[in-house]
Amino acid sequence: MWGGRFAAKPDTVMQAINASIGVDKRLWREDIEGSKAHAAMLAACGIITRDEADKIHEGLEAIALDIASGRFVFDEALEDIHLNIEARLTDMIGEPGRRLHTARSRNDQVATDFKLWTARACDAAGDALSALQQVLLDRAEEHADWVMPGFTHLQTAMPITLGHHLLAYVEMLDRDAMRLAAAASMAREGCPLGAAALAGTGFPIDRGMTAKLLGFDGPAGNSLDAVSSRDFALQAVSVLAICATHLSRLAEEIVLWTSPQFGFARLSDAWSTGSSIMPQKRNPDAAELIRAKASRIAADFQALASIVNALPLAYAKDLQEDKALTFSAFDSFDLCAAALRGMMQTIRFNRQTMALAAEKGFSTATELADWLVRAAGIAFRDAHHIVGACVKKAEALGHESLSSMALSEFQTIDPRINAEAVAQLSVDKAVEARDSLGGTAPQRVREAVQRWRAALGALDEEEA
Ligand code: ARG
Repeated sequence: MWGGRFAAKPDTVMQAINASIGVDKRLWREDIEGSKAHAAMLAACGIITRDEADKIHEGLEAIALDIASGRFVFDEALEDIHLNIEARLTDMIGEPGRRLHTARSRNDQVATDFKLWTARACDAAGDALSALQQVLLDRAEEHADWVMPGFTHLQTAMPITLGHHLLAYVEMLDRDAMRLAAAASMAREGCPLGAAALAGTGFPIDRGMTAKLLGFDGPAGNSLDAVSSRDFALQAVSVLAICATHLSRLAEEIVLWTSPQFGFARLSDAWSTGSSIMPQKRNPDAAELIRAKASRIAADFQALASIVNALPLAYAKDLQEDKALTFSAFDSFDLCAAALRGMMQTIRFNRQTMALAAEKGFSTATELADWLVRAAGIAFRDAHHIVGACVKKAEALGHESLSSMALSEFQTIDPRINAEAVAQLSVDKAVEARDSLGGTAPQRVREAVQRWRAALGALDEEEA
């Protein structure tokens, strides 16, 4: 490509360190779309002829078919996807192929391709999230009134419903979907094409036209910024990193819940792995890998930010390393979302074990304190003190939950505690009582499921 300037070929190691085709061939669709738009614009502006543009268009379509069907031979000597496609085009159509690069540089070309790719990847990741949300909604509805222990500090705190717990993730994922949508529209802002190497071009091009053809909101306003900025990728990968932390928390809960110590749930065979030595094992490998992949996505963000950090304007080859990191983050993310969806679709919960665990650890102590406030007009701080004494007594008597202690024992601590008070201490009563907005009561969970179904259904219609 630059044979005019050089006499010798590059050193083999030079070629190896410099080539990016192994990674950026993934941009082939965007590269071809970008070239078609560029050629159409060059013809519209009288920079190449209509006939040349048509030949370029046909040649690019044929190359797209070749790549899609795996027939295209990528050549490392041609460095990257841009030169591979251009060289093949010229082989096929001759002279017009040699005119395509007029008023363009690989610098604006790669930034354009990468922005388009990132926007689409954000859209796809958003779809994966709503698919996961749907599964969580189904499972939440099914388990709207299944009681489990709610934890703080991983110590039993209060009984909650499993439906409520699962809906917490639906909320998180919804915010992530909004972040992804924002990242997608940021990537579709400012088409770099026409910025050329760094300074713009002397040809009378129409940047509005290429921006529009490629679905951008308009052309980027400054040519230096256009070729050297990667904040769209930073934003997208940072959103993935945030969302992956949410996925990793649910994954960790799957690890805990399916352990024999908890026994709350069992993964289906399709989502469990065995041990090569211990025949009894059912390991939650996918959930563990989601934890680790979430860390890697955060590391991809860190590496990407470090590449851009302190890089003087405009383009520098450092920026070529941006794609491997971004692709890897999206690939990990797609796997995590799909695996979590598969696990959650088929996981089976153990109602009895969860309910028993919810009882333990005096989880309904707050219920009794609330009753003393409501029925006996006692200040909450005093009620807290009285119930603390009840728990101490129950523990001394060997009970694991307040509901198993006799009324007479409560009355030795405070005679105002009566049969009605003790009736509040079941876990079912406790979850029913927490019916404030956003609370764990089964009724609230069912309402929230309906609300989410309506909201996600409306979103689907908007997109259709
Ligand atoms: N493969 C390159 C990249 O991904 C394309 C841009 C090359 N530009 C250059 N000035 N060498 O960054």
